[in-house]
Amino acid sequence: MAILVTGGAGYIGSHTSVELLECGEDIVIVDNFSNSSPEVLEKIKEITGKDFKFYEADILDKESMDKIFKENDIEAVIHFAGFKAVGESVQKPIQYYTNNISGTLVLLDVMKKYNCKKIIFSSTATVYGSPKIVPVKEDFELHTESPYATTKLMIEKILQDVYTSDNDFSVVVLRYFNPIGAHKTGLIGEKPNGIPNNLMPYITQVAAGIREQLNVFGNDYDTPDGTGVRDYIHVVDLSLGHLKALEKARKEKGVNIYNLGTGIGYSVLDIVKAFEKVNNIEIKYVITDRRPGDVAMYYADPQKAKEELGWIATRDIDEMCKDSWNFTKKNM
Ligand code: NAD
Ligand code: WQD
Repeated sequence: MAILVTGGAGYIGSHTSVELLECGEDIVIVDNFSNSSPEVLEKIKEITGKDFKFYEADILDKESMDKIFKENDIEAVIHFAGFKAVGESVQKPIQYYTNNISGTLVLLDVMKKYNCKKIIFSSTATVYGSPKIVPVKEDFELHTESPYATTKLMIEKILQDVYTSDNDFSVVVLRYFNPIGAHKTGLIGEKPNGIPNNLMPYITQVAAGIREQLNVFGNDYDTPDGTGVRDYIHVVDLSLGHLKALEKARKEKGVNIYNLGTGIGYSVLDIVKAFEKVNNIEIKYVITDRRPGDVAMYYADPQKAKEELGWIATRDIDEMCKDSWNFTKKNM
């Protein structure tokens, strides 16, 4: 039996595919390359020395999804495929609702038809909105402030309803905090198109000389140094969380929700300093206005994942900064 990885050519999907293959799982990847490229698949094979089946298809295309399930014995789905840019979702809400929600509905419909009832879903810490207290626990109030976050919250609700209607389902919802870093080999990592929105890809582009300086979005927040605080997590730690989630789905039916974060908050300037120190490169920056919609500070309480999945993040901020730069250097 195989694990279907939707969006397996993407940033988190490719790292998770590597970890799945390395622990002996059989995988099938489906991706339409809307935000990735075919060469990633070759890199996954190079790292692991293993082969897998791949379908270039859109998860919205029911016939293709049906074909994948007909041709393979799919035991469980790890569902990464979706659009993920918060700002873009405000400009293109219809595309975001269609791709993320309709795509998931097609997937669930086909899963049900083929009696596949285990799903691990990529949700986000953004479903907590602007948390009033930190660290953030899974049972905190949920509130979304962008179409992107709303798609994730709606999918969480859809998955809950699917389980309510059919108690044979095992649903594991993983709420990621801020994934950064890359595989040790530097063969796979995050390569955004155009000007990066997120902090680490912007820093690596400054380091690479592609951008002149980092704009630090505000230094007057109520945080230790005034800049925004986040819970950055190494993408490999995040990927390993999916293996634990898969174990859980195999053992237990129901809907289980987990934060995947380190539990440590770092400010923008902490990240700049750590990056400079481990890579011995100066990162020029200027303080600019706050970015609209940004939250001052949030980081996870990862206790539930530790207790129930036996998962904790082990890679520290230095390793995250080192691996991010190693990937960028090798893929400029
Ligand atoms: P990514 O864009 O690198 O990967 C997503 C992959 O899905 C891409 O390869 C893309 O081509 C593919 N895809 C998109 N729509 C598709 C469709 N309709 N059919 C087939 N393939 C499709 O993103 P990522 O950073 O790897 O994120 C993976 C998942 O995790 C996403 O659902 C994202 O919302 C979620 N997430 C990401 C972050 C983050 O900061 N990276 C944080 C929280 C949650
Ligand atoms: C981190 C910090 C910025 C860029 C987003 C999504 C979230 C999730 C992860 C998908 C903040 C500051 C950033 C820059 C800066 N993705 N910053 N200069 O905003 O926490 O989360 O990505 O689910 O949904 O909202 O991450 O990396 O953009 O910002 O000063 O050029 O860095 O203000 O404090 P964010 P980020």
